Amino acid sequence: MSGSAVDLGSWPHLFEPGESVAPVLLTLHGTGGDEQEIAGIAPHLVPGAGILSPRGRVSEQGMNRWFRRIREGLFDVDDVIARAGELAAFVASARAHYDLGDRRIIAVGFSNGANIGLATALLHPEAVDRVVAFSGMYPFGDRDPIEDATGAEILLLNGTDDPMAPTPSVEHLAQVAASHGALVERHVRPGGHGLAQSDVAAAQRWVAAR
Ligand code: MLT
Repeated sequence: MSGSAVDLGSWPHLFEPGESVAPVLLTLHGTGGDEQEIAGIAPHLVPGAGILSPRGRVSEQGMNRWFRRIREGLFDVDDVIARAGELAAFVASARAHYDLGDRRIIAVGFSNGANIGLATALLHPEAVDRVVAFSGMYPFGDRDPIEDATGAEILLLNGTDDPMAPTPSVEHLAQVAASHGALVERHVRPGGHGLAQSDVAAAQRWVAAR
């Protein structure tokens, strides 16, 4: 379940309807980003896409984030789980409020935004079932709170030398997600944390196939 209705007026976000035949991209910024900045990626992935771009509601020394962390790479997993539930409820409320009917919603997240998108789809595939995760990693620490992620389809795009999203964590994510029924694809490129042109091209192809 995706929790109770969210008051959209009290959750800063951007919405653009786009073309009714196109999917809606749920764009999720990284640490210190915001809903305006990450929304700029949408036209590069799907021309005419709708955009639903909320702002992370956790502040770390003034930087917007999606969930608390103890330090870089060590997440407050209870908060990850709670915030994933909130985001799922936000999506369900926005779907009703903006009259999105059965339009496909695809989460597109970078870094911390990728991590909350992954957590949300793996815990609440009924709210969000497609995720493009740029420089994301396993968001649940040493736990596995996933029940049934059947129906979730995930694209993981990572650099081979990313200290913030280390390869063993990405491999663990792919393995655990698949073991719960998610379909996982990976795009691996040389380099570190970031969003390379080859990532965008791979994401564009993956989204187009859906
Ligand atoms: C996270 O905290 O989600 C990751 O370490 C990446 C980031 O700093 O955004």
